[in-house]
Order: sequence, then structure tokens, then C-alpha cells
Amino acid sequence: IRVPVVIVGGGPSGLMVSHLLARTGIDSVVVERRARAEIYATGRAGILEAGSVRLLVDSGVSDRVLREGDRHEGIELRFGGRSHRIDFADLVGQSVWLYPQTEVFEDLANRRAADGGAVYYGASDVEVTPGDDGARVRFLDADGVEQLVHADFVVGADGSRSESRRLVPESDRDWRRHEYPFAWFGVLTQAPRSADELIYADSDHGFALISQRSETVQRMYFQCDPSERPEDWDDDRIWATLRERVKGNGFELREGPIIEKTVLPFRSAVHAPMRYGRLLLAGDSAHTVPPTGAKGLNLALHDAELLAEALAAQLAGDDRALDAYPERALERVWKAQHFSYWMTTMLHRAPGASPFENARRRGELEAVVSSRHGRAFLAEAYTGWA
Ligand code: DHB
Repeated sequence: IRVPVVIVGGGPSGLMVSHLLARTGIDSVVVERRARAEIYATGRAGILEAGSVRLLVDSGVSDRVLREGDRHEGIELRFGGRSHRIDFADLVGQSVWLYPQTEVFEDLANRRAADGGAVYYGASDVEVTPGDDGARVRFLDADGVEQLVHADFVVGADGSRSESRRLVPESDRDWRRHEYPFAWFGVLTQAPRSADELIYADSDHGFALISQRSETVQRMYFQCDPSERPEDWDDDRIWATLRERVKGNGFELREGPIIEKTVLPFRSAVHAPMRYGRLLLAGDSAHTVPPTGAKGLNLALHDAELLAEALAAQLAGDDRALDAYPERALERVWKAQHFSYWMTTMLHRAPGASPFENARRRGELEAVVSSRHGRAFLAEAYTGWA
């Protein structure tokens, strides 16, 4: 198979690059190790920035987000037993949409399938060889048949455990990371909504986040030690932990059976360079953010948009177009890195933190919510700097 672009990874960033290229008449092949059903079943975050929604709708992926997603015009910060609303609509005239990442994936996968895009799910033995005059990807398709793709460019969109970024030689890597001494325990529960908007809560016992999925299924998280094991937590212990962290102000958590539990690691990382010759990285293969603030998917879609535009220009003869991609992408990546780090450190109590540090953090939260400028800074970042 010979195409201009081969894409390793069929998650949201890889599929979006493929979709946007197709719209400008450029063929691509997407190679993904996981089966489609497996990707769909992997629970992820649920908040889309206004710009991500616009991209999905305006580029013709789907308008299902507008029909089935929930538009949110604010979030609540809770601390010291009191709640403080951050009113996005009033502060910055923007909103976000609660629409699970798995549905974004489903919309993209359906669109690629309907448009006849070549997407190989369930590929194995994937071998990527970027060369000076083109790239080659060899793999076994889901039926075990060997496939060989020759392309001008290869896009590495294979997620946070990316193998394609390892094609950049050690001596040319500039990987920047930050680790956090905590994780999130995430649950899905069959229960009615406890609130119409998301609640980010800081308490003396640690952080909790109340999010939603539908009328009947809710998503919640609480800060835990990274070594916790889901099987050690029964429903009673989970609910007692969540209740303790969101109580106050007459708030009542509506409980039900827990239907899924996972421990999510926290990490910040940027893996530069995002371009190495004919290899281009997009999404989590190039950068990871901790979940607080839900920036991961939004960044991935933004990378995809910039990269598709740069690839189209390059293939049309502008041989400097791809040079500009990393710089343009990284500008937003670092803003999102800062925002995710800031929300994380402001809202989580590190194990062993001093009384000074915990009181300072409370002061920081007070400073943000008591200032229109502080709330607007948060609102601007949360909704995506539109
Ligand atoms: C969700 C996850 C997040 O990390 C966040 O900041 C907000 C919402 C979610 O899964 O709904």
C-alpha cells in the first residue's frame, strides 16, 4: 500500500488526523493494535472544550455531541465545607460539554468507516521504519495477513505508552516530566445525578471530583495512594470516602452500586521533539497531563488539527509547513501543562504536606474564588482559551 501518510494509533488524535486529511483529499492508513471494542470500553475523561466541539461538528465528524452531550456553563469548587461556582458563561462567555471520550472515539471511528477510510484495528507485530526518503510500516492485520505501507510521513499517535516516540534517538530527546505523590480512584456508579455540574472538592481528607455520565450513570473520583488496588475497596468504603470529602452546605451524595473501579496514575510529561524527520507525534504520545481539568483529549484533538493542516500544506509543496508544527502545538501544550499542574497542586493535599503548605493551599483557593480575575483565569483555561 502506498499513501502520503501512515498513522500509528487509532485513538482520537490518530483518527482525527486521518479524517481531516481525507477532507483535503489526502489518503492515509491508520494502524491500531487494539480492537475497536477494546478502545471503546476504556473509560476516559468526559469534558470537551468549546473548540473541540466546534472541530467535531464543523469538520463533519458528527453533531451527536450537541444532541447527546450536556452543555456545562460552570463548575463548582468546594473547600472548607462551602461551595463556590465558577461561572464560565458570565466570566468568559464560553462553556464546555460533558461528552465521554469513548463517544468521541465512536463518532470518529464511525465517520472514518462511513467515508471508507483505511483503519486497521487489531494489528500486531507493528514495525515502523522512518527513513530519509519515506516511511515504512509493516504489520499483521487482524486476520494475521502481513501488510506493508509506504508513506511520505508517519504520524505517531499511539498514546502515553507510545512506541513511535522511541524512534527518536536518545541523544535527540528532550523529555520533561513531573511525578505526583498521589493518584485518583475512579468509579462509575448506577445512581442518579448528585449535581448538574462538576464539583471539584478539596477536604482535610483529600480531593474528590463528582462528575456525570447520564441520568442513571455517574462518574466520580477521589485522591488515593498510587499503590491502592481497586479490589481492596468495596462499595461501602468508596461511598464513605467520597461522602467525607464532599460534605457540607447540605450537599447530599446520591449513591448506588459501583459498576467499575480503576486507579489512574498522575503524571505530567512533554516528549520533545514532536517532529523528527518524517516522524510526527500527536496527542498522548507527545505529552501527558494529570487528569485534573480534563485537558488530555482536548490537547490531542488540537494537535490533530494543527498537524493535519501542516501535513496538507507540506504535501502541497510548502516544505517549511511541518517545521512550524511543533512550535505551534507546544505553545498550547505548555499552557495546558501549567493549568493541569496548577489545578492538581491547588486541589490535592500531598501526603506529609506541612500545616503551612495546607493552609497556603487554602489561601490560594480563597484568592482564586474571591477574585473575578482569579475565577476568570480558571474559566478561560478550563474552557480552552477561546
Ligand atoms: C472528568 C474527568 C476529569 O479529569 C475532569 O477534570 C473532569 C471530568 C470525567 O471523567 O467526567
